[in-house]
Amino acid sequence: MDPDTYRKVVGRFATGVAIVTTRVGDLDHAMTVNSFTSVSLDPLLVLFCAEKVARFHGAVLEAGVWGVSVLPADMEDASRFFAHRGRPVDGQLVRWPHRRGDSGVALFDGAIATLEVATSAVHDAGDHSIVVGEVTSLGMPSDGPPLLYHEGRYKSL
Ligand SMILES: Cc1cc2nc3c(=O)[nH]c(=O)nc-3n(C[C@H](O)[C@H](O)[C@H](O)COP(=O)(O)O)c2cc1C
Repeated sequence: MDPDTYRKVVGRFATGVAIVTTRVGDLDHAMTVNSFTSVSLDPLLVLFCAEKVARFHGAVLEAGVWGVSVLPADMEDASRFFAHRGRPVDGQLVRWPHRRGDSGVALFDGAIATLEVATSAVHDAGDHSIVVGEVTSLGMPSDGPPLLYHEGRYKSL
């Protein structure tokens, strides 16, 4: 079993796409993810997986709070931008209208769903950490079909 075959096999599982955000001091961090998953109704728990080498990994562990903005099909450009390794972090949100939740994290105005989350557990998982958290706010700022990711490509319904 080689990594390329593994990627192809798991890539057949279609997902949505979200941008997770966090804030350390006055610096906003953001990263494209497709590992976002709802976990529990009582209490309300969600998770995403953060690659340990991503800058977002250290930032979200330090902050303890994060936002999730679920992307509509017309925000593929945002998904590409926040997946680009090594982009400047400072001012990276300026192109994307957003508001701040009570926890201070950015939530995108164009998102079809938003959540604010407080980290409740971090599980070690190989080259990633599984970040689990309790939901502290919910929103649906925009409407529209979701952005999908399948077999390494963006798709829409
Ligand atoms: C569709 C898509 C989904 C992704 N999902 C994840 C994910 O779930 N977890 C992760 O750590 N990186 C994921 N990535 C990669 C990160 O977005 C990418 O490494 C990013 O540049 C990290 O930013 P940072 O180094 O500023 O934290 C994904 C990329 C794409 C294009």
